[in-house]
Amino acid sequence: MIAPESLERAVELLRHGGVVALPTETVYGLSANAEDELAVRRVFAIKGRPATHPLIVHIPGVEHLDTWAREVPEAARKLAEAFWPGPLTLVLPRTARATDAVTGGQDTVALRVPNHPVALAVLQKLGGGLAAPSANRFGKVSPTTAEHVREDLGGDVDLVLDGGPCTVGVESTIVDLSSDEPAILRPGGLAVEDVERVLGRKVPVRTSSKVRVSGSLESHYAPRAGVVLTEPAQAVARVQELRGQGLRVGVLGPASLALPPDVSRFDVPDEPAGAARVLYARLREADAQGHDVLVACLPTESGLGIAVRDRLSRAAAPRG
Ligand code: TXA
Ligand code: MG
Repeated sequence: MIAPESLERAVELLRHGGVVALPTETVYGLSANAEDELAVRRVFAIKGRPATHPLIVHIPGVEHLDTWAREVPEAARKLAEAFWPGPLTLVLPRTARATDAVTGGQDTVALRVPNHPVALAVLQKLGGGLAAPSANRFGKVSPTTAEHVREDLGGDVDLVLDGGPCTVGVESTIVDLSSDEPAILRPGGLAVEDVERVLGRKVPVRTSSKVRVSGSLESHYAPRAGVVLTEPAQAVARVQELRGQGLRVGVLGPASLALPPDVSRFDVPDEPAGAARVLYARLREADAQGHDVLVACLPTESGLGIAVRDRLSRAAAPRG
């Protein structure tokens, strides 16, 4: 656990316009006091993120929900009770507490209670909301360790709190409850099946909505290397084909996959939750080793496999 002085320091900084990187169970966040407009603008500047892309407000507990959201339908209460703290973000009509700087001028706000002792301790001491996107440069792979944050953002942040590697490994699942028809705007660390079970209905995944969700831009979560998707059974054939073109090829896939001896493997388990946990770290490792292209095996399309497939597809999308 983190030294109490570091927590105190983080809260002090956040009270005075500071930007602090902190661990959550999903990925590391780049946080600022959500009610401090200048501090929020610094977050956008550090990330290089367009100001129209709204941020998630992290709150200390479900009891704060009504101070940020002016209408909280029964479905939202059910989901919050069932999964907070946890990898679930709810999009709801905002109160005046959620400013234009945070929401990008939209009439809705995205809210979540993160499930990490460090993030929760900071939020409780601060007593307010923290606007925090993932602590990486816009469009790049999200960080799941403090080291990743330092590599990406280094001296640009006032403090990096190290809470160890993230246990979930992909961003939260975003559920839009701002209209009558609930929809998933981003599959993530909470399985879609779990959302549907609690709501007692099917909830469509609508990743290309009118709402500006940066994770829904085609190319996102992208490493330097190119990414080629494959079902595991075709992985070896894809590797041979790409090597035939003179490329340096690495493979993201399960240990059970038999590969030619001189091909580097970055072990991503076939089991979806395990794949989610290590995905971003493996993409970074493969990049650090200077591969031209990564052949990525798609996990099963259920549970967190849906989020992993989504991130891999975006990493593989044509780059602008
Ligand atoms: O797990 C997570 O959600 C992490 C950790 C740090 O909590 N945060 C994260 O933040 O992934 P970011 O900014 O990288 O992604 C937030 C997503 C964006 O795609 C943004 O567009 C969307 O949430 N979002 C924020 N406010 C919204 C709103 N009012 N309506 C629709 N989408 C919204
Ligand atoms: Mg992000």
